Amino acid sequence: MLNQTDLRKKAAGEKAAEFIQDGMIIGLGSGSTVYWLLKKMGELVEQGLNIKGIPSSVRTEGWAKDFNISLTDFSEVQSLDIAIDGADEVDPHFNLIKGGGGSLLREKLVDAHAKQLIIIADESKLVQQLGKFPLPVEVVPFGWEVTAQKIAQLGAVPELRRREGEIFVSNNGNYILDCTFDVILNPQELHKQLKLLLGVVETGLFIDMTDMVIIGGDDVRILHKK
Ligand code: 5RP
Repeated sequence: MLNQTDLRKKAAGEKAAEFIQDGMIIGLGSGSTVYWLLKKMGELVEQGLNIKGIPSSVRTEGWAKDFNISLTDFSEVQSLDIAIDGADEVDPHFNLIKGGGGSLLREKLVDAHAKQLIIIADESKLVQQLGKFPLPVEVVPFGWEVTAQKIAQLGAVPELRRREGEIFVSNNGNYILDCTFDVILNPQELHKQLKLLLGVVETGLFIDMTDMVIIGGDDVRILHKK
């Protein structure tokens, strides 16, 4: 039995499938909302839709295979027609926090090489200002302690991500620091400052990348960039 949030994620994911056209190369995002998109895509593939996807995480790759979605990679194609991905926070300028599932680096690589990025989310992800959700920052394991100290000097409380007591390791073999800032006043500037720190691989701030947001609420809303 799906709860209200799951139903909203499902509605947003299924709506996004309407933007997929035959022949497209599609960036496949990560997360539970994307699951519903993939499920719908699987149904469309069964009805004859011819598409290929580049998955942004090992988990997404597994789901895509379960739904018989053909996959490709950057050795075959360097530009994607569209990418559809989830988010942890979306601000009114369509800046995002992503990486709750730990796939931010691959997601950013996939999303950045798509001609159009559609974000799918339930209504709870819409915020006035980014930062309530701790910002995931991917760091190299070696010396993560000193990288965390440098991040703390930017005003954050960084916490090494663990799952069931074990250090969480990203699909790229890196660690994730979940950085509590409370509020992020200038996401562009913060992203730049973090990227300059030795040991930081990528941040979960997705700035100025999103073209459209599909929100599942009491009904499904399509938001366009102003
Ligand atoms: C994973 C992500 C996800 O897209 C984000 O966490 C949203 O997930 P969900 O759709 O499960 O709420 O960035 O790294």
